[in-house]
Amino acid sequence: MKFLPDVQGLQQTVPVSWHGGLRAERACWQGTPVFVKTLDTTYPDLRLRFEHEGAVAAMVTHPQVVPLLARTPAQLIFPWIEGETLRELVERGPVAPDAALRITAGVLRGVTALHDRGITHQDLKPENVLLAGASPTAAAVRLIDFGMSHARDLPNDIHGGTRMGTPHFMAPEQFLGVRGEPRSDLYSVGVLLFDCLAGQPPYEDALAWLAGLPQRRLPLPGPAALHSLLNHAMARDPEARPSSAREMLAELTQVAARLGVSLDPETSPAP
Ligand SMILES: Nc1ncnc2c1ncn2[C@@H]1O[C@H](COP(=O)(O)OP(=O)(O)O)[C@@H](O)[C@H]1O
Ligand SMILES: [Mg+2]
Repeated sequence: MKFLPDVQGLQQTVPVSWHGGLRAERACWQGTPVFVKTLDTTYPDLRLRFEHEGAVAAMVTHPQVVPLLARTPAQLIFPWIEGETLRELVERGPVAPDAALRITAGVLRGVTALHDRGITHQDLKPENVLLAGASPTAAAVRLIDFGMSHARDLPNDIHGGTRMGTPHFMAPEQFLGVRGEPRSDLYSVGVLLFDCLAGQPPYEDALAWLAGLPQRRLPLPGPAALHSLLNHAMARDPEARPSSAREMLAELTQVAARLGVSLDPETSPAP
């Protein structure tokens, strides 16, 4: 990763999105397609958050986490991942259990690498999981977007509860302002797996409990062998969840074995 004063030579820039003072574009840089996030505001709070996002992205190197190629005070450059987001896959309908297990295994491998480095992502949701080559496999997973993350080793936690994640995928304690709790990410991964299998998240109104209203969860989707894993990860009390991403991955690996699903098939199954 290069820390540069300025990025020169971005070509063929195509807008992807603009919100919250951040511009996202696809471009060509040094001969390769890249995804560029540019800070487009002078608002100091957003500048601090952007620096934080860049610092976190620079801390991790893992095949299931998008690498940061270069960074300036106002730009983050990542390789362009050709494929789709997990959101796009789920929009087409429920994901088959073998593919859902493989994708979740890829997510947990990336999350394990983050947690080992003292980082909690805090905004794991289908929009922030890319599938390279649109392949529903563990190896295709690329975790993105450290805009909400918490890092043990960075001096300031600049969020202070000012920006919220997506309610459906947020752990209950996150609504209460708890940050830096690795098991919050495990709750989100549990909801992610549920969302893949059901084609929708578990609660229609993810905020009902905050208002003291009863919250009705949709029936657990997928094979019964998966249900204890879903219940374990989505426990409201963090203490009742798997104790680490590694432990949750071990549990998922056992369930996959019981279901006869290979998490890393050597060759793709014949069409
Ligand atoms: N490296 C990448 N390659 C291709 N598309 C990407 C890449 N990173 C992000 N995207 C796309 O851009 C969207 C927004 O990026 P993200 O980093 O999540 O920013 P935001 O803070 O706006 O959520 C993602 O949901 C995804 O669709
Ligand atoms: Mg995002």
